[in-house]
Amino acid sequence: MAHPTEIDLTVYPDECDAFGHLNQASFLSLFERARWEMLARGPGMDVFTRASTWPAVRKTVIDYHAAAFPGDVLRFHQALTHRGRTSFTMRQTARRSSDDTLIATAEFVFVCINREGRPIPVPEEFGAYMSVRAAGDDAQRLTVNGVSLAVEVRGEGPAILFVHGYPLDRTIWRDQVDSLEGYRRIAADLRGMGQSDAPDLGYGMGIYAGDLAALLDALGVNEVVLCGLSMGGYIIFEFLRRWRHRVRALILMDTRAEADSTEGRRARDAAAATARDGGATAVGGAMLPKMLAPGSEVRAPELVDRVRRMMAATPVAGMIGALAAMRDRHDSTGLLPTLADLPTLVLVGEEDVLAPPEAARRMAMLIPGARLVVIPGAGHLPPIERPSETTAEIREFLRVVG
Ligand code: MLT
Repeated sequence: MAHPTEIDLTVYPDECDAFGHLNQASFLSLFERARWEMLARGPGMDVFTRASTWPAVRKTVIDYHAAAFPGDVLRFHQALTHRGRTSFTMRQTARRSSDDTLIATAEFVFVCINREGRPIPVPEEFGAYMSVRAAGDDAQRLTVNGVSLAVEVRGEGPAILFVHGYPLDRTIWRDQVDSLEGYRRIAADLRGMGQSDAPDLGYGMGIYAGDLAALLDALGVNEVVLCGLSMGGYIIFEFLRRWRHRVRALILMDTRAEADSTEGRRARDAAAATARDGGATAVGGAMLPKMLAPGSEVRAPELVDRVRRMMAATPVAGMIGALAAMRDRHDSTGLLPTLADLPTLVLVGEEDVLAPPEAARRMAMLIPGARLVVIPGAGHLPPIERPSETTAEIREFLRVVG
């Protein structure tokens, strides 16, 4: 189903102050108009009144990033970031369409009320419309630990949970989820990334791991093979500290066991400042050259573009949360020698500069019995740079694990 995700609105002179800047009251009304426009193009502007309810605004938070002027066309993007029984939260962004400058981001919390002003359920039709659009056709939404996560579950058999890195989403596992028949493949967007809820606060490795444990509970999965890329690996280490008994085998991909150095921690804070000032596009733009193997711009421009768009779509709150979580994560080197009884595959792209092969080798040496695989021609993202080789290595590992 095609849904309008973006609404273009023009700034008029009567909406601007004496200096020609779009004024605050007009910002609010443009955000509101974009929401109604989106409904008009989707389930209809009367989607609430048809259900005898009204969405009353309870809270508004707006971050102003740059000025807008008469004649600017602003592109508004709308997403449902939380859906409760009677309330919902919408996150909206406004960008100048001519140069993609982030102008403002806003979060609106609504409560659906009846004529007497009492809260009543969010209309099913509205929730379904926004959720389908938000989660994508292949995903379902599951609410765990107070956040709604977009999750794809495919196939039957022993469960394998794929955990993506930063600032990415579950779609990096597309080939593996499509191809590993005979297994129950589960790929979720972490909180704050992809199409999952992006709360302003509440990020940490323990929190991500807790979300995944709760997700497995919700899916009725007791024992699982964990496969994590980069930050996904950091989360797996935390999962092991708490729920080791649930883990059947491990795949650690382009990740490292060490905590951040002092310099690395400073770089996390600098990246968070960049996210606040320049939005996800600025952070993604700085990271992009290190994500894929050198030469990818020439060899695989569509892949470069796909990763750029994935990073730029990450909510800023999720980025800042993940950066703090990575900065504060524990060193997991001491955990490695204790994993003797867990079949482990350590896989790394030969040309990864973010979590290089030396880090993978160190990890594999410290985990008794671990198998190390280096994927030629891949950088930090083997599952999408060399999908069939990566999937084949995982398949072979799973076959041996049994
Ligand atoms: C990731 O891909 O998850 C990040 O590169 C991890 C990191 O920055 O440490």
